Amino acid sequence: VPLATELLAQITEVVGSEHVLEGDDLTAGFSVDWTGRYRGHTPAVVRPGDIDEVAAVLALCAEHGTPVVPQGGNTGLVGGGVPLGGEVVLSLRRLTSLAPVDTAARAVTAGAGVTIGELQRHAAAAGLEYAVDLASRDSATVGGTVATNAGGLRVVRFGATRAQLLGIEAVLSDGRVLRHLGGLTKDNTGYDLAGLLCGSEGTLAVVTAARLRLVAPRPQRTTALVAFASIGDAIDAAGAWAGAVEGVEAIEFMVSDGVGLVADRLGLARLVAAPAHLLVEAAGSADPTDALAAVVASTPGVLDVAVGRSAGQRERLWRYREGHTEAINQLGPPHKLDVTLPHDRLADFIDAVPSAVEALRPGASVWLFGHAGDGNVHVNVTGVAPDDPVVDDVVLHLVADLGGSISAEHGIGTAKRPWLGLNRSPEELSAFAAIKGALDQAGILNPNVLLP
Ligand code: MLT
Ligand code: ZN
Repeated sequence: VPLATELLAQITEVVGSEHVLEGDDLTAGFSVDWTGRYRGHTPAVVRPGDIDEVAAVLALCAEHGTPVVPQGGNTGLVGGGVPLGGEVVLSLRRLTSLAPVDTAARAVTAGAGVTIGELQRHAAAAGLEYAVDLASRDSATVGGTVATNAGGLRVVRFGATRAQLLGIEAVLSDGRVLRHLGGLTKDNTGYDLAGLLCGSEGTLAVVTAARLRLVAPRPQRTTALVAFASIGDAIDAAGAWAGAVEGVEAIEFMVSDGVGLVADRLGLARLVAAPAHLLVEAAGSADPTDALAAVVASTPGVLDVAVGRSAGQRERLWRYREGHTEAINQLGPPHKLDVTLPHDRLADFIDAVPSAVEALRPGASVWLFGHAGDGNVHVNVTGVAPDDPVVDDVVLHLVADLGGSISAEHGIGTAKRPWLGLNRSPEELSAFAAIKGALDQAGILNPNVLLP
């Protein structure tokens, strides 16, 4: 749908012509999601440079009834940040302001367009750390990770993005600004709007800045890559280690097909052959190696252990886990089913998924990995057409039948939208609709995601 000439002229006046991108050559990178599964089309990508410009652009779009998709680093995995219905893309990447770290409060205020990598380096320069970490750290942004309540690799110790959020600044669809960035430790003054906007996936307001908690550094760090005799042994160990390893920051799960694929595709050395591996990392002010080794040594089913202590050694071990997303994508656009199970159903689920998928789509490949410490499995399926819903349907029903969540950390986006009712009651969904109506009064924000 072409944009009304008048609206385009008004937006251009606000942000400047160099920040309104038009035509497929310039907008293509903003119109397809990271997985390649979701491809849309936009009449214009608008790149405001500050919150006043965000507010003015939204007010204009509201006046014209023109739908808008907010976008950060475009590293989402559920099609939640791309213009599937021909919406205007509002890219927040130019909002890169980064206040000095408040070391006494252990917090920082960051603009929506700051990447997680930049935020981590900024915190480290002040002797602190930002606890959320994920493989897409150098593209994923503060705004995007807040809007999607991103999880990542350290949730087992520090929680997901919502647990870091002390305050928020956001613009409503009619251009009004919500700003609550004081970041007081105790601030019990009613509705938690920051918590509500976190995970709202761009449907309620456009996040422009966040006040984020920082944590003390843990300078002594050890990573172990542990091979197991069976998937069940690895899952049992993940459950036990979450409580038993002091300073545990990550417990990540992989199976033999996945580590083989990553080694082949990324040119890494082959690991010891084993049905499953766990990558466990512990950190603290004292060296955690001996305590970690003692726990691993007393764990049933361990076949082999590789330990990394220096940054280089640890990074080499992490490559096997972080490389999964990239290696799988080389096989074609995957279906990404990011789910959590109660710990005691995890092994049953992992056992059941491949045959459930193959029974319906014999040519499909199932890749299983994830954050075992959080009960979070990433079921990736390749060899299935992007718009084929059959595999998603069978896996998500299996999750719900076992008492799990159909989205652990990636969000609902467009990918899981038809199945939200598996986890949310009609009463909850009507509360969602009421909140949507109250905050997005213009009804223009991210119309193709989250709400059924
Ligand atoms: C990861 O943990 O690597 C991503 O969240 C999962 C994925 O790419 O499916
Ligand atoms: Zn993940």
